[in-house]
Amino acid sequence: MSLAKRLADGIEQGIRSLLGIVKPEAPPPLPKAERRDYTLEELKSYDGSDPHKPILLAVQGRVFDVTRGRAFYGPEGMYGVFAGKDCTRALAKFSTDPADCTGDISDLTPAELEKLEDWLDTFSTKYDEVGALIR
Ligand code: HEM
Repeated sequence: MSLAKRLADGIEQGIRSLLGIVKPEAPPPLPKAERRDYTLEELKSYDGSDPHKPILLAVQGRVFDVTRGRAFYGPEGMYGVFAGKDCTRALAKFSTDPADCTGDISDLTPAELEKLEDWLDTFSTKYDEVGALIR
């Protein structure tokens, strides 16, 4: 083997092993929620406290799998309070108060109801809808 060829092989091997070192590990696949309807009680156990379970929340009777948004809805997230809950009222009122995490829209203003529609757009665009909230 010529010196040039050996040199080229050596360089190639070096690059390959370097690539091996820096190649990022594929992250484990995210847990996915079962497509079905959920009761409020069932929803509670999908609050992000178990990293092996999906994170669910409900808006206006629709259940979304927000696992992809773990940074928002996980235990450390800014919106962790919404995980496993019906956050309809909170979203409409732009509130993160746990007391607003209900489906009560009886006294919302037209502006708040409009906000809610915007949130529904956001959630249905970004996340999988897995089913309905059983009341
Ligand atoms: C000073 C207050 C707030 C700041 C600075 C803020 C900031 C942000 C930012 C930067 C994002 C990320 C947007 C993105 O990357 O897609 C976000 C998303 C969001 N915010 Fe806020 N926010 C605030 C208050 C609130 C409040 C009070 C609520 C209550 C409803 C709220 C609900 C949300 C939700 C639901 C998302 C969407 C997360 C997702 O994409 O799943 N935020 N906010």
